Amino acid sequence: MSLTRSGVKLWWMLALLVAPGAHAFNDADAVRVLTFARAQLSDTTAEMPSVNRSPKSSLSNGTWTTVANTDRIAWTQGFFPGSMWFMYQVGSEPYWRDRADMWTRPLEVQKTNTETHDLGFKMYLSYGNAWRLTGNTYYRDVLLTSAGSLATRYNSTIGIIDCCDWNSAWQVPLVTDTMMDIELLLWGAQNGGPAVWRTMAVNHALKTLADAVRPDGSSYHYVDYATNGTIRSRGTFQGYSSTSTWARGQAWLIYGYTMVYRYTQDARFLTAARRVTDYYLANLPADGVPNWDFNAPSQYKDSSAAAAVASALLELSGLETDATRRTRYRTAALAMLDSLASPAYLAQGTNSPGLLLHGVGNLPANQEINVSLIYGDYYFLEAILRFNPRPNYPWYSKLMLPRSQHLLGTTNTGIRNVEFDLTPLAANLNGGVVGWTDSSTEVTAFNRLNMAVRMSEDGIFQVRNGATYSWIRRVPYVNGQTYHFRMNVDLNARRYTVWVTPPGAAEILLVDRVAFRSDGPAINDLGRAAVISTVVDSDFRVTSHRVYAPGQAGNVALAPQAPLPEATWRQLDAPEPASARPGASER
Ligand code: GLY
Repeated sequence: MSLTRSGVKLWWMLALLVAPGAHAFNDADAVRVLTFARAQLSDTTAEMPSVNRSPKSSLSNGTWTTVANTDRIAWTQGFFPGSMWFMYQVGSEPYWRDRADMWTRPLEVQKTNTETHDLGFKMYLSYGNAWRLTGNTYYRDVLLTSAGSLATRYNSTIGIIDCCDWNSAWQVPLVTDTMMDIELLLWGAQNGGPAVWRTMAVNHALKTLADAVRPDGSSYHYVDYATNGTIRSRGTFQGYSSTSTWARGQAWLIYGYTMVYRYTQDARFLTAARRVTDYYLANLPADGVPNWDFNAPSQYKDSSAAAAVASALLELSGLETDATRRTRYRTAALAMLDSLASPAYLAQGTNSPGLLLHGVGNLPANQEINVSLIYGDYYFLEAILRFNPRPNYPWYSKLMLPRSQHLLGTTNTGIRNVEFDLTPLAANLNGGVVGWTDSSTEVTAFNRLNMAVRMSEDGIFQVRNGATYSWIRRVPYVNGQTYHFRMNVDLNARRYTVWVTPPGAAEILLVDRVAFRSDGPAINDLGRAAVISTVVDSDFRVTSHRVYAPGQAGNVALAPQAPLPEATWRQLDAPEPASARPGASER
């Protein structure tokens, strides 16, 4: 069946109207995409020639084009470290924190860069995520310096951030893209920087609204002003024509006005977000992924625009004051995610090093057409983590101790409860353990764990008790079965009690107030878990792990566990080389 353009529009609007809640995108999809993302990003870290270069767009041979982190005009260097910060958010693994940090710090050279309007893209997504997830003031300080550099580009006569010195045809231009960069100013004004940064961002957003957004909610990509503020010209740089609407430019507006509304609560920006969104949704094809330009005759989808809009609409639906719009925007976002996570757009099973196929970088320049784009991948991940900030991502057991660890924070002191589900994925786990230690203790050997649940060579669960292992009842572990564990931990007395519930059975007391490991390290908090294999990576998994103070059980919510197509996902979970073995002889 071929649909006319208006038929397509009608289909999409009907889909939004008649199918609220009928989307398939769910927690299992989120975990599936995140599992793929971990594998792809892990491969990409190995492919990069050094931490001084970052990936940008895919090549047909399955590699990335790269950009130097010192490149002052390039805009994409923040997306790769930002994506790795998202991976850290998913599993709290120091492994991902360290990799994200390795590609974040080389961007510090950009903090004094006043030659570009794109400092927000470069710094807020790398250093901003780093600050959000670690609270390390080094990252905050670099961000504040960066915001100061971006502020130097503010033209107070016109009230905009001047964008593009490299284009000699323009005098004082703005582009819709800059709506993304001004988050750095808004964040800075809220985090110790001068209040005028907020005024600059607000003025820029209002001027963009007045001059780049058309009455029907569509947009010009750029507006060029004379130094006295009169408009010299407006049109497009990366879109099809001066009367068309470039899809990613529109995406930047949807995301940008939503974001500015979040910071300001100024109703003008909610109205603006609605206007640009409503144009976008009314002109989408049925699969929720726009053509690279809404008015271009040439047909090339731009998945990066779809990813940015999916992320933006998940935020907008949360900020919306109108219930009907709230539902409409969320339903649309989930339909977009559903489409992007489907084989039509997900790069799984292809030779692309990215996550999403079918992005368009710059079609008029004949650059990056029908490729994976690091920024599309970044916003896809962001959207998934806006859908569920704490997905129930399985902690697969690792042979390599540095890879086995998950950080639990520094606040778990005194008496704590721990709960988790453990699923053996092999018949004999040969001494594999789930262990816990202090947040400051690097697990370099088994004896760095103060507490441990162990799957013994003869097939039962055991618990570390002083110098040995104990169990009150022999509870066998069976490949493929999921066991629920509950622990009560007294960090002052250094004792813990463990119960296990086999599937379909009653809870069993496994040990009662047994002692922490006698030669274990000092422990003040229950701050780190390690999930360690002794045979092969991923021969068991832990899900729904949570630590909470007694009486607060209901406060720590994880998504219900989704059914996992185990074999595929385990393989994708960044497997270690077969030769890798843990750095400790004890099991
Ligand atoms: N900021 C440039 C682009 O969206 O391609």
